[in-house]
Amino acid sequence: MQGAISLPRIACLSVQRSVKTGLKSAVPVPMSLAMSADTDVEVLNDAAVAAPAPAIDKPEPPSPTELVEGWTAVTSEFAALLHDAAPNAAWIETLEAAKARMQALAGRDFDGALYLLLQAASGGEDRYSTHHAMLCALVGEVCADWFAWPAAEVDSLVCAALTMNLSMSAMQDTLSRQLEPLSSEQREHVDGHAERSAAMLAEGGAKDALWIEVVRRHHDADLGAALDAAAPAQRLAHLLHRVDVYTAKLSRRTSRDAVSPAIATRDTSLGEDGRPDAIGVALMRKLGLYPPGSFVKLANGDLGVVVRRGAKAHTPIVAALRRDDGALHMSPKRRDTARPEHAVAHGVTAADVKVHLNHRRNLAAG
Ligand SMILES: [Fe+2]
Repeated sequence: MQGAISLPRIACLSVQRSVKTGLKSAVPVPMSLAMSADTDVEVLNDAAVAAPAPAIDKPEPPSPTELVEGWTAVTSEFAALLHDAAPNAAWIETLEAAKARMQALAGRDFDGALYLLLQAASGGEDRYSTHHAMLCALVGEVCADWFAWPAAEVDSLVCAALTMNLSMSAMQDTLSRQLEPLSSEQREHVDGHAERSAAMLAEGGAKDALWIEVVRRHHDADLGAALDAAAPAQRLAHLLHRVDVYTAKLSRRTSRDAVSPAIATRDTSLGEDGRPDAIGVALMRKLGLYPPGSFVKLANGDLGVVVRRGAKAHTPIVAALRRDDGALHMSPKRRDTARPEHAVAHGVTAADVKVHLNHRRNLAAG
């Protein structure tokens, strides 16, 4: 491994729902975390952070082939919509239809959706802006769902995530490939992109004022109030900002590799007291500590890619690709990391695994 990564201690949290607001807030409880030389993160207590229970009426999951083809198609739709966009009524209608198709696909297999989107966003420079927008939309949606925010607000959030960088999609793709620092002209363009994106939507006829306001504020890091006390535009923009930063850290660019999920979690989910704040808890509850699409090393030395969330945040299902001796598995091996011999040792990057991924075979292993 790359050496144990020093992290601030992450306290275990229990999560309580406010009867009045329906929001959940993080409440610190005694720590029961294990930190060993072999782990790059203090594994959160089993009871504290668990993946959500599957819905009883969950729709039939698509086959890996159907999933890959479905995401390829919807990604192409968004790429066409977001590049060189000039929003008008027809454009907004088309965007909302594509959004509905994306949400339906994710509703059938959220793990598969996360896997494909995170891989796409991490897979290099092709369509980075589109993949990133879609990933933020899905992650933002499940976090807002965790907070039980009103459906209309969640809808505004998803639309905002998809369009927040509308005015600089092409530049975002260029920057994902760029090794040099931003030029002064690029910096100026980036600095004004939130306001420009919001203006493009308003001038294009978007009727949802909350959508437009969240786009305008999506780089506002300062919440200015407790999450459950903030106005809708503030808290939605704040959540989107955090999701934007978290997912960007998980994505590879030409200028830097992705960071492991543990580092992304440390950098984006901890409050000033070193404990996960409400959004940090939501991210870990809904995505797990090692979200589908991220790479891990297991206790037996296997290297692989996470394909499903597990029963606990730190026990995902992994498609093992490479053995401890460096040889490739003939086909991806399903590893339940709840088993001690296959426990996650630490997160790694694509550069550590060095495998050209076959998504259909990996997803089939899950
Ligand atoms: Fe942005």
